[in-house]
Amino acid sequence: MPVVVAIDGPAGSGKSSVSKEVAKRLGFGFLDTGAAYRALAWHVQASGIETDDAASVVSSLASFDYRIGTDPTGYSVHVGDVDVTAAIRDPAISAVVSRVARVPEVRTHLIELFRGLMAAEPRPGVVVEGRDITTVVAPDAPVRILLTASPEVRAARRSAELVGSATAAVGDELRRRDEADSKVVDFMTAADGVTTVDSTELDFEQTVEAVIEVIRFTQ
Ligand code: C5P
Repeated sequence: MPVVVAIDGPAGSGKSSVSKEVAKRLGFGFLDTGAAYRALAWHVQASGIETDDAASVVSSLASFDYRIGTDPTGYSVHVGDVDVTAAIRDPAISAVVSRVARVPEVRTHLIELFRGLMAAEPRPGVVVEGRDITTVVAPDAPVRILLTASPEVRAARRSAELVGSATAAVGDELRRRDEADSKVVDFMTAADGVTTVDSTELDFEQTVEAVIEVIRFTQ
């Protein structure tokens, strides 16, 4: 079993980009669990199902063929033969993803999927990021981190990624999504034994170094 580095945090905390870079530097695998929830939301919509229709969302799991690309230069996400890497980042998916993520059967299904992917990791370790990794998916991971940043900084960083989006509007979207997601899992406070890395005052490089420092210290 590879060493699991579990990283949780709110929307726009920089978890994905930081986790990906940390994994690259350590020669570890990387698992973006939010991408799977987003891909399921995409699959639900592509199947003509309303994201609010929990029973149909659960039925759609049977045909949800989720795959992660093997291209070492990037992290690509596929549903069946369709490359959905770009489509799942669309604000239209961000707006509805919490509706599918709150369905208990969806969470059970995806948690099993994540555990299978973690166990199959051929590299010596895997960085897994999301909302419930430190508490539910891998509570026994040797390294568990909560990556946070102030709401203002998170909104500013995310709006810089989404060209043409006003910071205030992006901040509203993040707040709304965090509120919805917090009803299902608590990722705003560190659970027992989880180390908090607050990146409010840190740039990207400093955040990556801070996370690697925690990993070195813990192992
Ligand atoms: O991390 P990202 O913002 O891409 O996650 C998209 C959505 O997936 C979250 O807003 C949340 O609804 C869901 N999610 C989750 N549990 C995780 C990761 C993501 O419920 N571990």
